[in-house]
Amino acid sequence: MSKVIINPNKKGAKINREIYGHFSEHLGRCIYNGIYVGEGSNIPNVNGLRTDIVKALKKIKIPVLRWPGGCFADEYHWKDGIGPKNARKKMVNTHWGGVTEDNSFGTHEFLNLCEQLGCEPYINGNVGSGTVQEMSEWVEYMTFGGISPMSDLRAANGHEKPWKVKYFAVGNENWGCGGNMRPEYYADEYRRYQTYIRNYDGNKVYKVACGPDTANYKWTDVLMSAAGKFMDGLSLHYYTVPGTWEKKGSATDFSVQEYYTTLKKTLYMDELIQNHSRIMDVYDPDKKVGLIVDEWGTWYDVEPGTNPGFLYQQNTMRDALVAAINLNIFNNHCDRVAMANIAQMINVLQAVILTDGEKMLLTPTYHVFDLYKIHQDATLLESYVESSLIGTDGAMVPDLHVSASEDSNGRINITLVNLSHNQSRHIDLDIQGTNGKPVSAHILTGEPNAHNSFFAPDKVKNEDFKDISATNTGFAFTIERSTVLSVTIG
Ligand code: AHR
Repeated sequence: MSKVIINPNKKGAKINREIYGHFSEHLGRCIYNGIYVGEGSNIPNVNGLRTDIVKALKKIKIPVLRWPGGCFADEYHWKDGIGPKNARKKMVNTHWGGVTEDNSFGTHEFLNLCEQLGCEPYINGNVGSGTVQEMSEWVEYMTFGGISPMSDLRAANGHEKPWKVKYFAVGNENWGCGGNMRPEYYADEYRRYQTYIRNYDGNKVYKVACGPDTANYKWTDVLMSAAGKFMDGLSLHYYTVPGTWEKKGSATDFSVQEYYTTLKKTLYMDELIQNHSRIMDVYDPDKKVGLIVDEWGTWYDVEPGTNPGFLYQQNTMRDALVAAINLNIFNNHCDRVAMANIAQMINVLQAVILTDGEKMLLTPTYHVFDLYKIHQDATLLESYVESSLIGTDGAMVPDLHVSASEDSNGRINITLVNLSHNQSRHIDLDIQGTNGKPVSAHILTGEPNAHNSFFAPDKVKNEDFKDISATNTGFAFTIERSTVLSVTIG
């Protein structure tokens, strides 16, 4: 029997719903032939945006969407993507497959997507190859309602009223594809660019500075020391790559060793957040600056036969576990983690949706977001697992992983992962004060490499879980191998 203890009296911070955010880049089939099919398409759409995908994303309550990149952001010139579509500049997408970018999806289309989804836009500006003026004018174009060149241009392009844009990032990976800058140089550039991001008409921009890659602690230290007081958030990028960057491994065909290595590398996110937070604490002890994990997820070799620059990969129960563990980690660090964005929303890396022409399927990762939406805007509760170490040589992991919260109706929500490749666990869920309260649970389970395909799109999906009984101190149940479970009490 493994013990999971939840302490409803020990409350933590609010779990910002933005932790459940997504990322959509002009990369492969994320935007084009993904969410955006164009108004003339036979696939049902509103303003070119696929109706079935919008409906599916609304179901998981997508709270925030990051766009247009990624590496694409630091080569994107937003004025190329406004005005009559047939006059928009055609260019080459140098980062991703060298394909033609016709700019038919631009600022208006993205903000309309956010309106249809009911989510906050998170726009990533261009520092690497853009100017201060260009960035400043983009914010003016989107958010200023008075008389000005950019406001007038927006109205001439058919949108009289300004939008609200809450989140804005000043560059992406400026230590790499965003200009190969040193932290000292970028910190100064950040200070300069952000000065001209104005708050118009009551729109308060939450400014995000480019943060570190993985364990680049020096970057965090320099940024916080030189520019901490000018930012609302600092980003962090960390991907789970089972192998090496040269040979990452297959999305569906993996050994037990690779399975545990993937989970072990995912758990490293916890250490990264703790270490970066400690550095941030030195300059920002009140945790006013949010850590924005705006790229996370699995990164495998592309599916055989697909464009290597499109980063298209399948998604199995292993990915579901990676998502569930990461989301538990973000919940448990919600005093510092203010937002997170899985990479990426559709057809790219750890996607929640895959498409093939008019067909679409929901991946196991989608179903995790569905199970975990109960945590959005809830209050973190202290949770603890008496876990055992399992795995293979060099890849030992705890067998169980948990987070818990209390929502505004006083309901307690627990999300629990069994990391074992082949063994179930009997759970004694110890939680005070819940005697006689109703309990419901849902489960996502399957062989570690189980996945949905266009022939069998519902092979892996969430199901009701009834096999849960009350005890004197809480509840007892059995959780199968490679499984994600959500329990709601009250
Ligand atoms: O998500 C794919 C790429 O990974 C992004 O464009 C970049 O920011 C990161 O390196």
